[in-house]
Amino acid sequence: MENNNTAAPQRKPVVFSAIQPTSVPTIGNYFGAFKNWSNMAEDYDCLFAVADLHAITVRNEPAMLRKQTKEMFALLLSLDLKPEKNIIFIQSHVPAHAELSWILNCYTQFGEASRMTQFKEKSQKHADNINIGLFAYPTLMAADILLYQTNFVPVGADQKQHLEITRDIAERFNGIYGNTFAVPEPLIGKSGSRIMSLQDPAQKMSKSDPNPKASVSMLDTPDMIVKKFKSAVTDSEAVVRYADGKDGINNLMSIYSCCTGSDFDAIEREFDGKGYGEFKLAVAEAVISNLKPVQEKYNKIVNDAAYLKECAAKGAEAANYVSGKTLNKVMKKVGLLLK
Ligand code: TRP
Repeated sequence: MENNNTAAPQRKPVVFSAIQPTSVPTIGNYFGAFKNWSNMAEDYDCLFAVADLHAITVRNEPAMLRKQTKEMFALLLSLDLKPEKNIIFIQSHVPAHAELSWILNCYTQFGEASRMTQFKEKSQKHADNINIGLFAYPTLMAADILLYQTNFVPVGADQKQHLEITRDIAERFNGIYGNTFAVPEPLIGKSGSRIMSLQDPAQKMSKSDPNPKASVSMLDTPDMIVKKFKSAVTDSEAVVRYADGKDGINNLMSIYSCCTGSDFDAIEREFDGKGYGEFKLAVAEAVISNLKPVQEKYNKIVNDAAYLKECAAKGAEAANYVSGKTLNKVMKKVGLLLK
């Protein structure tokens, strides 16, 4: 019997995002991605993955990759992502990702994959290892997203093109076989997505910066954080205000705003008549207290192999279940004989 008005739980919009284990997370990642993910964990059905299959498109030391995967997984579990409601997992533990990506390869044109700017950049950077995985990186990413009938993907601006090709592939497939995939929308972060280097505020903050004072890792100790902010580059005006030509102070104000939620006007008022020394210390303290709960949880679990294993198994099981449904649908539609 049809019954549309009883309490079947309303399905929330689905959010999917992933991060490569090889990218060492800085406070730029924290404010640009992780903190927003935490805010979404309440209102959406979220899936967050450690993209280890994407990481092997370039060469890694195997033991190091395993360590980084474990640490990134522990870090995701340490964020306020509500793992009891949302799914946190390791990409390679869910075979449907590799399986769907193969199928999508057969529905993606050589020409469109060749136009990806990230592929062009990485081919230049790794000229001795331009492998097919690097070329097929976007179809694996499309598989990640499409397997879960994802509605929204929070991504940095650098991943926007990958989301566009994902939408193209989904629409093409739906056009041929009828509605199969949800077509995802990007959620491009605003503030926080561009936290700049503390030493050269014209550059984006990056852990690969040769100057260790330029970036703050999510796992830096309070002492290190204070030191780095104390030596942050500013200007000679000695007035805390947001203005053109004050990139260093603008960046510190952005970071403070991410930590406290204050807007620039409020920050200017708060530090009216105060010097840069005092302001820098306040920014450092705000960062330290923002990171504290994450660091505490991380330090507690990162060496607890049994706990991490159990969480990884739970995440993989849940992700397997959801992705399996889409994969089955796809296999049927393209004419693969189901088991
Ligand atoms: N390629 C993304 C990055 O390097 C990581 C990623 C893999 C991802 N799969 C994804 C991001 C799916 C969003 C959705 O940042």
